[in-house]
Amino acid sequence: MKQTDSTTENLLRTLPEPLLGWYRENARDLPWRHTEDPYRIWVSEIMLQQTRVAAVLGYYARFLAVFPSVEMLAEGDEEQLMKLWEGLGYYSRARNLQKAAREITALGGFPDTYDGLLALPGIGDYTASAIAAAAFGRREPAVDGNVLRVMIRLTDCHDDISDPKTKRAVRAALAEVMPEEPADIRIFNQAMMELGATVCGPNTAPRCDDCPVSGLCLGRQRGTAETLPVKKAKKERRVEEKTVLLLKRDRKIALRKRPKTGLLAGLWEFPNVEGALDETAAGAAVEAMGLSVIDWQSRLTAKHIFTHIEWDMKGYFADVTGENDDLFWADAAAFDAAAIPTAFKKFAALVRARLQ
Ligand code: ADE
Repeated sequence: MKQTDSTTENLLRTLPEPLLGWYRENARDLPWRHTEDPYRIWVSEIMLQQTRVAAVLGYYARFLAVFPSVEMLAEGDEEQLMKLWEGLGYYSRARNLQKAAREITALGGFPDTYDGLLALPGIGDYTASAIAAAAFGRREPAVDGNVLRVMIRLTDCHDDISDPKTKRAVRAALAEVMPEEPADIRIFNQAMMELGATVCGPNTAPRCDDCPVSGLCLGRQRGTAETLPVKKAKKERRVEEKTVLLLKRDRKIALRKRPKTGLLAGLWEFPNVEGALDETAAGAAVEAMGLSVIDWQSRLTAKHIFTHIEWDMKGYFADVTGENDDLFWADAAAFDAAAIPTAFKKFAALVRARLQ
């Protein structure tokens, strides 16, 4: 997107009015759109970063019921926090929320500028802009994937959207044309996102007949909207094979804490080892943990896809005896209270049934 291109500039100047009119009439009624409270806006934006609106709604309500203010979150119990996040994935988001809540409380309140917000853990360019505009009425464009796609189609831009330069150019172009009135500023980013989420969607033909700005859209005029945006092929995901050991002793299941850093940091997991082991090798792995298998009960497989890694898992359920200091033996109540990542969902369902 070339900023010197006056056609593009003129086109974008006429964007806000029809866009905001359309938003006021048509936007989905979402809870974070009824508030100017930076805390509530922040929590919504963090939850929405990697998760669909429909999936977020319940989590959002439960989270705010338990942690209704930034101070309550700052002082909140970490296990309870992780439990509230269970199933949403990308758990570092929850940890960073609490870290940032402590910083905000120490500061005596929310920073009200883009730079102040950007300095907080877990807040990047997009989230800082979204909060600065929606909560504080600052002219900061928030460019997520939806906004990027809408802008690329509107301006018939063929640059690679995975190139950070493209996003920077889109942000700069939007900063020129963001409205001036605080009431309009507060909803401008939401309106752009809404258009991208509901009318000018990903992986589908845009619904130009329902679009409030189709009259300006160069992508539509030139017939390119459907093929945009251009995105270079992604690197392939790394596949990791794992053997997950579901070890029951008495009426308790073995859990252990994941390391404090890295993927799913600090959450509970079933003990597991690298590689897809057969039953004999899995038995040896259990022995190596200082335990003995009394009886193999069942086996099952599961797959979980993270952003950059895929786990292909083979699970063995066994009754065992013995002791290992790194393990926590959870009865049904402790198991229900533990935050266990969605990656282990299939195994957790089997375990839960067996702990009755
Ligand atoms: N996706 C990211 N932020 C959003 C918001 N505030 N409303 C709807 N979808 C979103």
